[in-house]
Amino acid sequence: MSTVLTENLAKFSGADWLSAVEELLPAIHEVDRAAVQIWFRFYPLELKRFIDAAEDREATLNGIVMKGEFELAGQIDTSHHFLYGHRYWPAVKCKIEKVADEYKGEPSSLVELIKDVSMRVSEKVKADRTLTNAIAAAGLMTLNQVGIDAFRAAKGEVAEPAGLMRKSPDAIVVERNSDDSQGFFGFLKTVDKKFTVAFQASAYAGKLPVILDQEVVSAAQSDHSQDWQSKDDRCWDGPIPIECTSASCGTCWVGVLGGAEKLGPVKPRERRAMKVFGYDQPADDAPFIRLACQTRAQGNATLVIPPWNAVFGKKVYNNVDEVVLEPNTTSAKRLRETIASAVTGE
Ligand code: FES
Repeated sequence: MSTVLTENLAKFSGADWLSAVEELLPAIHEVDRAAVQIWFRFYPLELKRFIDAAEDREATLNGIVMKGEFELAGQIDTSHHFLYGHRYWPAVKCKIEKVADEYKGEPSSLVELIKDVSMRVSEKVKADRTLTNAIAAAGLMTLNQVGIDAFRAAKGEVAEPAGLMRKSPDAIVVERNSDDSQGFFGFLKTVDKKFTVAFQASAYAGKLPVILDQEVVSAAQSDHSQDWQSKDDRCWDGPIPIECTSASCGTCWVGVLGGAEKLGPVKPRERRAMKVFGYDQPADDAPFIRLACQTRAQGNATLVIPPWNAVFGKKVYNNVDEVVLEPNTTSAKRLRETIASAVTGE
């Protein structure tokens, strides 16, 4: 079933949504400013439409080497776990359903629709609108991707905030931007500085000790404290999903919630690979989407791990002019062949 609201939302492209989010950024608290942009990159509308339009869905998913859980339909209540505004999700879901009931097709921009939901939520939960704008935007996009029936059917429940997320929005921002103390004589240290990279996925979270300039993935590979693969099948060697560790497979992409400027520069190989994979990495010097195997810790950082990875740049965006990857991965022939076909768009 569709509603006037879902029909209206369906008219907007992925680029329209990203522009709306960008326009709202000044009205979004810093605690969720990177998070909401990351969320919209984790759930790209064009990829969803490409998969929905496929005649043979399974062949299409194989053709883009899709691994993990991409569909929002299976994670309506959880996909935005890393937003501060996630705690307001029950109210957001309820208000979006009410807007869907009441909306008669008045011409509204995406920004106006998001603001309308955000205002209703902020009144209900008595929180500043800078804290409800991001989750309202994610909620409307979720409705757009899953449809009204699945949206209504979700329970609308969230877990209590844990760890750092129990603190105030300002305190979270301060802590994400801080580095570990290097001790009383820390200013004398050069190569042996130690930092912490915090990570979270929807099913797990933790912290990695890293030394200056260590690759984040290498630190993750040393963490055998848990059976990570039981939480995410892609985590066969530490808590960050990996395959090649050489910018060739796209498995290790992450969002950077804090400390982006402390993850070392993006080299041309990573820039090119991100286009091939289809991940929308901003052109900034310190983007909020990175390949963990290409990042070196130069301070503390906070990462969020998406529940899926794929290679879809050529097929979905047609933005790759030539084959730029030389896959040299651990799982060999089949993966190399599939990635090569995903890259050439055959
Ligand atoms: S592990 Fe393959 S791109 Fe990083």
